[in-house]
Amino acid sequence: MPCIVTIGGFYGDEGKGKIIAYLAIKDNYDVAARGGVGPNAGHTFVLDNKEYKVRMLPSAVLNKETRLLIGSGVLVDPNILLNEINTFNATDRTFIDYQCGIINQNHQTEDKKDIHLKEIIGTTGTGTGPANADRALRKIKLAKDIPEVALFLEDVSNSINYSIDNKESVLLEGTQGTFLSLFHGVYPYVTSKDVTASAICSDIGVGPKKVDEVLIVFKSYVTRVGEGPLANELSADEAKNKNWQEFGSVTGRQRRAAPFDFNLAKKSIQINSATQIALTKLDIIFPECKGIKEYSKLEDKAKKFVENIESETGIPVTIIGTGAEINDTIDRRKT
Ligand code: IMP
Ligand code: MG
Repeated sequence: MPCIVTIGGFYGDEGKGKIIAYLAIKDNYDVAARGGVGPNAGHTFVLDNKEYKVRMLPSAVLNKETRLLIGSGVLVDPNILLNEINTFNATDRTFIDYQCGIINQNHQTEDKKDIHLKEIIGTTGTGTGPANADRALRKIKLAKDIPEVALFLEDVSNSINYSIDNKESVLLEGTQGTFLSLFHGVYPYVTSKDVTASAICSDIGVGPKKVDEVLIVFKSYVTRVGEGPLANELSADEAKNKNWQEFGSVTGRQRRAAPFDFNLAKKSIQINSATQIALTKLDIIFPECKGIKEYSKLEDKAKKFVENIESETGIPVTIIGTGAEINDTIDRRKT
């Protein structure tokens, strides 16, 4: 499986971080590259009861053998990046593209103070929208223009294509989710660029013929933070009773919740040309599943839930999350 791209199938927060962290360890990728908007996405994973969070580095960071790349389409907040490189001891395996756009203080201030962004859209306030606006205006500074990140610069598209051509295993990490896409989501309640599979590949500089698998990540229920429509939304009390209550990993805001949505799932599989599904948090819907690692050990109603998703969408659920720990995972891929 030389080149796989992972994508969020709903509104972000599908649990991509844990799935990618699992794959990175299990499949031992040579290279992992992050696409997507930038530090507005927080990917979380837990190993041996310790929780880790990344907003800039790829979620493959726990595998010390994996080279970590950030594509030119991704906005970089130098403080967050340097902090994570330091936390994960990743100085000699992190490379960012010369042409990553750099988020500055003004971008952050505008994102936090502008009424349209803050109140109407409900952005994360991390400066990504104003920075992408500056990029479109061709005013933004690029990574090659600032000394803070000089040590980490590389031609990421060249490096990743070289890896693919030399049969190294490559994982392309998407952030956010399909319905937060500026083009395919519910405008204006979206993020500041496209975040579907094609866009993630473009962020990194990989063309469509080089991708072998598109793994779409769905949570067993749907959540979203910020404003905008959410079909069949539960009240805060209902969400709490079901244990679907979540808080944003970047902003701490309470996420709104709704049941698994087949219409959204089918549309995002189509837009992303997804070939397989990773389904997360099955244990939240079926608590008896917690920590189970073999499909055959799931109770019947949990299996039915999974198999219904497969028959409705027509693609296989290959990976299932049954807990926060990286190893709380059922892997149904053929080896
Ligand atoms: P922005 O990306 O900070 O401009 O925020 C625009 C919208 O996208 C808001 O509704 C945010 O809550 C949402 N958003 C952006 N990134 C993420 C993410 O990684 N997970 C979930 N929601 C996100
Ligand atoms: Mg998140």
